[in-house]
Amino acid sequence: MTGLSISRAGPPIFQEARNRRQKSRAAGLNPDYWYAVEQDHALKAGQVIEVTFWKRSIALYRGEDGRLSAMENRCAHRQLKLSLGHVRGCDLVCSYHGWTYNCEGRVIGIPHDLFGRSMPNFKLPSFPVRVRYGLIWIFPGDPARAATRTIPEIPEIEGSDRWACVPLDFTWRAHHSMIIDNVSDFTHAYLHRKYRPFANAKLTRCEASGDRVFVEYDTEVGTGRISGLFVDRKRVDTNHMELCYDYPYQWSNTGGRIKHWCFVLPIDERTTRVFFLFYFDALKIPFTPWRIPRVLMTPFLKVANRTLIRPLLSQDGFAVEAEQRGYEQYFDAPLAELNPAVNLFQELTIRKWQEHLDRSLTVPAQYVPSN
Ligand code: FES
Ligand SMILES: [Fe+2]
Repeated sequence: MTGLSISRAGPPIFQEARNRRQKSRAAGLNPDYWYAVEQDHALKAGQVIEVTFWKRSIALYRGEDGRLSAMENRCAHRQLKLSLGHVRGCDLVCSYHGWTYNCEGRVIGIPHDLFGRSMPNFKLPSFPVRVRYGLIWIFPGDPARAATRTIPEIPEIEGSDRWACVPLDFTWRAHHSMIIDNVSDFTHAYLHRKYRPFANAKLTRCEASGDRVFVEYDTEVGTGRISGLFVDRKRVDTNHMELCYDYPYQWSNTGGRIKHWCFVLPIDERTTRVFFLFYFDALKIPFTPWRIPRVLMTPFLKVANRTLIRPLLSQDGFAVEAEQRGYEQYFDAPLAELNPAVNLFQELTIRKWQEHLDRSLTVPAQYVPSN
């Protein structure tokens, strides 16, 4: 592979992409799903923040009553971001002329002269919001479809006998499809040679079914110097791992005892926020055969997140960010993918984005300003 020239133009947009990799790296994610946008504890009552779904800015705020609301992040008056404003009671106030929005995005107050007019009728699009698993979820698509889609069911981390789980998140300068490729593709054990979360992986299943791609590996899980101390090999079958790109989410399962979900929030073509939930049924106290009791699991996981899981995932962040930079220079390089699972992940991303584009061409614009 010699003579690759560095292109001055950036990678092609989706419609102009010439191969599977280019298409997958330009695709968005279908907005008609629930997306994790923030950790619940990070947004206090009376606070407003900006979150972004695929270049669409959303003002997310928590009223003084604790209720969450989300609306398009622009004042109907002169398009200032409402996230630059502030929360008053259960409403959101723009910082410029003080126009006030209720939780549905309707202008309910204008604190200046109306020049003899009656109170105008303005409304911004608003978005359904939920809280589950310690995360705030928004439905950025057609609100009429929100009730037909569900946030993934994770019974293990709900209820009184729940497994320990501490969410963690990152913002990586990489396209979401690179992250999906990374988390389910175990050919990158080399990157993690220090922590060795998996070793000698052999692909035993690779299968697309509907909007899912299932992958299974025979592998040695958690054999690393640190992680090997905690993984309870007596109770967990650590020789086998099942993973799934469960569009637009991703999960894994090791012996029914160690599981994770990964929720990506596509911000733009080169930026993705990613939320991980790792949850464990069986971990042992290092250097002993004893299981860590459930009540101690959460403090234990907070330490494990800091000392083990976050540094491990930061290696993935380093790799996908470097891949993004490489892709932006060498997007025309010949395809050199060996793992068939990666091809299936990319094909699913492309198909779902194409479906969304086809559908949105036939749907009229959602918001018509009333003036
Ligand atoms: S720009 Fe928001 S109130 Fe005028
Ligand atoms: Fe990794």
